[in-house]
Amino acid sequence: MTRANTRVSAPFRALLMPFRSMLSGTTQSPIPEPETEQVWEKLLQLANREDRLLDQRETLARAANDAAQARTVAEAASEAKSGFLADMSHELRTPLNAIIGITEILVEDAEDDDRQDQLEPLQRVLSAGEHLLRLINDVLDLSKIEAGKMSLALEAVDVSDVLREVVATAMPLAEKSGSRLLLNCADGVGIVRTDPLRLKQVVLNLVGNACKFTKSGKVRVSARRDGNGAGQRLVVAIADTGIGMTAEQVDRLFQEFSQANAQTAREYGGTGLGLVISRRLARLMGGDINVDSRPGEGSTFTLWLPINETHGVVRDQQP
Ligand SMILES: Nc1ncnc2c1ncn2[C@@H]1O[C@H](COP(=O)(O)OP(=O)(O)OP(=O)(O)O)[C@@H](O)[C@H]1O
Ligand SMILES: [Mg+2]
Repeated sequence: MTRANTRVSAPFRALLMPFRSMLSGTTQSPIPEPETEQVWEKLLQLANREDRLLDQRETLARAANDAAQARTVAEAASEAKSGFLADMSHELRTPLNAIIGITEILVEDAEDDDRQDQLEPLQRVLSAGEHLLRLINDVLDLSKIEAGKMSLALEAVDVSDVLREVVATAMPLAEKSGSRLLLNCADGVGIVRTDPLRLKQVVLNLVGNACKFTKSGKVRVSARRDGNGAGQRLVVAIADTGIGMTAEQVDRLFQEFSQANAQTAREYGGTGLGLVISRRLARLMGGDINVDSRPGEGSTFTLWLPINETHGVVRDQQP
């Protein structure tokens, strides 16, 4: 008995038997006796292969079924997590807004009455409260994006208006670190159809970082249109002359709660969520963020968004 003969399954052997009697000279086979055995061996090998394929198909079907079940469980868990985070952030934000609002009034009163001894601790309460509120908002944004529940409110947006607002908002940050903040909007950037709130959020995160990590230097925000026809993009670059990053640090960017190193985190504060959220939002809008950086020389973060694509930024009208 051949090796192939012992491996092949019973149903296949039964199926092949009529061929064996046909091959073995008892019927009028045209094939000579030694070759009969070879052909039989080949047939059994083919049957073995078929058997193994059937086994593999069963294993694959079982794995696909297991994966589908695991996916259902994971989706339910993710839904529960997003629901919990949404409820929790709402519950935390309401009293926190009250704390911030009342502290602002107390700071104003202390300033009016020149009560310097109370001013410093009150300002610390205020900035801790604002930090906590930013953190809660960031966690909520991230969980919404992960759960696929972040939706875009598209409308015709004047890009230079949005950028001017961002620069005005970030100006105190630049002044605090003794840097110049410049805006350079190319002619013809014009109007695009996008979510103004999210566009502003992403650019403000990038400009905020550039101002934070640049002491007595320069931060330049520039916008232009790139490419032609359907491939046209809106490109917003934020270039700074700040501390820059090594290639390893750049590799770790865009990971949750990740900061360049412990010393940077201590010195500059923050939580390491800004860039993760910004990239996810950029991708949601059909674009992305790229980085080019050299330690000690500075960084350029480039946000690009598609124009003329239905899921992303759509050109609405020419200026
Ligand atoms: N323009 C920049 N120059 C140098 N390093 C930067 C720059 N932008 C980001 N980084 C590095 O990337 C890290 C992550 O940035 P990210 O904005 O995600 O977090 P963060 O600014 O530390 O905190 P936050 O959550 O408040 O934004 C920063 O901590 C910093 O180390
Ligand atoms: Mg940041």
